[in-house]
Amino acid sequence: MFHLGWFLGSGFGIQPWNPAVDGPWTGTNVRDWTKPDLYVDLTDSLERAGFTYVLIEDTAMVEDSFRGSAEVSLRRGFMAPKNDPMPLVPLMAQRTKHVGIVPTVSTIQYHPYLAARLYTTLDHLTGGRVGMNVVTSVTDRVAQNYGMERHLDHDERYLMAQEWIECVKALQGTWEDGAVLADQENGVYADHTRVHPADFRGRWFSSRGPLNTVPGPQGRIPVASAGGSVPGRELAAAHGDTQMAMCKTVEDMKAYRADVHARLLAHGRKPSDVKLLFLATPIVAASDEEARVKAEAARLSRYSDAAVEYNLWNMSYTSGGRIDFGGIDLDTPVDEIDTSAGNGERSSLANLFQGQSGKTLRQMAGESFQITDLGLVGSPDTVAAKMGEIMDEVGGDGFLLYTPPTRLQIAEITDGLAPALRRRGLIRDGYTYTTLRENLQEF
Ligand SMILES: Cc1cc2nc3c(=O)[nH]c(=O)nc-3n(C[C@H](O)[C@H](O)[C@H](O)COP(=O)(O)O)c2cc1C
Repeated sequence: MFHLGWFLGSGFGIQPWNPAVDGPWTGTNVRDWTKPDLYVDLTDSLERAGFTYVLIEDTAMVEDSFRGSAEVSLRRGFMAPKNDPMPLVPLMAQRTKHVGIVPTVSTIQYHPYLAARLYTTLDHLTGGRVGMNVVTSVTDRVAQNYGMERHLDHDERYLMAQEWIECVKALQGTWEDGAVLADQENGVYADHTRVHPADFRGRWFSSRGPLNTVPGPQGRIPVASAGGSVPGRELAAAHGDTQMAMCKTVEDMKAYRADVHARLLAHGRKPSDVKLLFLATPIVAASDEEARVKAEAARLSRYSDAAVEYNLWNMSYTSGGRIDFGGIDLDTPVDEIDTSAGNGERSSLANLFQGQSGKTLRQMAGESFQITDLGLVGSPDTVAAKMGEIMDEVGGDGFLLYTPPTRLQIAEITDGLAPALRRRGLIRDGYTYTTLRENLQEF
């Protein structure tokens, strides 16, 4: 069996809203994305389908590094506007009982004490189903919103993230097991000898502790992360419970998994401690032929002006806002473009340029993918069988599906693909456990 995760890639932000770009199934998203309904419906569907978790992306900026203006960001709604995901978590939890909910937290936005207290509170409110997607933030604009002049260098911010997690964990460990007595007979709530300061002192963060709330059902909150660079993988190996990986081929997936397993062993942990979920954008339809037509239409649409604009914008974002791909002549050969100034998502930028040598920027914008369908195109049965084959070859642990959340596409995955996977015994049929940690560790 393998895990399924859902990547809510626009966070609690504007969801597919423009019929000319997103197709005719956008419903009332253009005005209702700020309301809880779509996310609550999504979570409900994911639980019915047996997903292990939903990951809620988050970023905190209105990007204006593309062509030196926020015009494209705001006209198109790219990564802005966006609400804070944290208040959404209890609403998503309320209609469900098992599926994990993993909101993103940035190590430059949240002090460890604030994060430890917030996530422990969410752990209580969700009955032990919350996880934290730890990111370091990508662009200078985010850093500037939090008082920095520009973002730290890539590797430096991963060192900061390591320390951030250590501090959060130290705070989450300030209440020993058995510290809460809740003894009404003798009038003793907690045993103060079992509650200790953390006295954490680091280069970036210090916190005294103890945490002023009691441990939640999971104690230490499961950690998710996505950094594919060496420091990103090290972070997962040292502290992660699940990692999301962008790979384009089965060979890449196998190599990624072997690399993370070796790092885990070097950290004295077991390979099974981190569940590796591979990003995929499956294209599912009623028949193989219908899915092929859909996939071909999607491929061709990538050459449209709107899609090229998006891809150039995304490349600029991915560089940390340091390279303005909107300012480069579209006929420039890709091989002449210097990406060394990039300070954002290192592995994502490398992914975009992978295999693009010999093309122009215009061709690359139409043809390069950060995340691919991994050949998962077809009817629910065809795609389910293919997912099974890939997992057989890779060895595990599952997929993080990145599908735009229109209700039609949610249904294709949760009411079409998931039942086909379940019939094959490839995904869970109901949940044995209630906490995210247990559900992650089950297989
Ligand atoms: C599935 C997935 C989810 C991510 N979510 C966020 C996010 O919510 N916020 C954010 O700032 N970065 C996010 N990132 C970016 C990663 O944290 C990281 O910066 C990126 O994957 C590049 O890592 P690298 O520089 O180690 O290669 C995400 C990446 C992936 C693949």
